[in-house]
Amino acid sequence: MSLSQTMHDILFEAAEPMRSRHRIQVDEKAGHANFVTSDDRAVQESLYTLLAKAFPGARMLGEEEDTHVRIGEGLTFVIDPIDGTMNYIRRREASMISVGAVQDGILSFGAIYDPYKNSFYFAKKGKGAFCNGEAIHVSDYPPEKALVGFGTSPYNTPLHALSCRTAEALLSQIADLRRLGTAAMELCDVACGRADGYFEWILQPWDFCAGTLLVQEAGGRCGTIGDGPLPFDLPSSFLAANEKCYDFLLETLLRVKG
Ligand code: IPD
Ligand code: CA
Repeated sequence: MSLSQTMHDILFEAAEPMRSRHRIQVDEKAGHANFVTSDDRAVQESLYTLLAKAFPGARMLGEEEDTHVRIGEGLTFVIDPIDGTMNYIRRREASMISVGAVQDGILSFGAIYDPYKNSFYFAKKGKGAFCNGEAIHVSDYPPEKALVGFGTSPYNTPLHALSCRTAEALLSQIADLRRLGTAAMELCDVACGRADGYFEWILQPWDFCAGTLLVQEAGGRCGTIGDGPLPFDLPSSFLAANEKCYDFLLETLLRVKG
């Protein structure tokens, strides 16, 4: 079986709780309006079990874990069982499962699954990016025509003002902004050319790990916002965009930050 099919089957099976509309338990986590549901935990548990079976010896860095492992030698999966937890709680049907794979420190493959559209995104380093088996590519819209997604760093109150300032500074220079509530979906949109860029002042590695490879393999660029190389086991600022928008967005964001 191909790697893509193996990952598809794992993410599809793990998504089972997301397909049923059963009652969920919601608990609070540290930070402003940050929640975890019983389904975040259930999906993560299934992913751990299924990934461990298919990739014996792999390490797991999952969002819903009290102590987070660091990436080392060998294969590490960087896992967001439900990206877009607030959307999930409010039943907005906009949440994704995101699994990035880092081999000896190098982002090697990544898979994202949208259980509501039954869309499976997969990228392998040097081999391209795909949605349901079809090759995907970033757009070539320039900044003045760009549709740019952003995250509000909701759990980090000190960043709220900066998020609003950057959004305000950008809006008059591009076509429009979007805020979906799931970084993984924003990155799928950039990779498919449905959006031209995406940024957030702080994002967790499981939010952007798989999506980074998807965008890069679709011909786009990803990086921190002036904070050095992207880490895949630590929180970081994050920017993704097509070639025509990347430098413009980076310069604008850095100027606004000051
Ligand atoms: C969040 C979503 C959201 C982004 C937050 C993330 P979660 O992930 O991706 O869009 O703004 O920064 O933490 O908590 O729903 O997995
Ligand atoms: Ca999550």
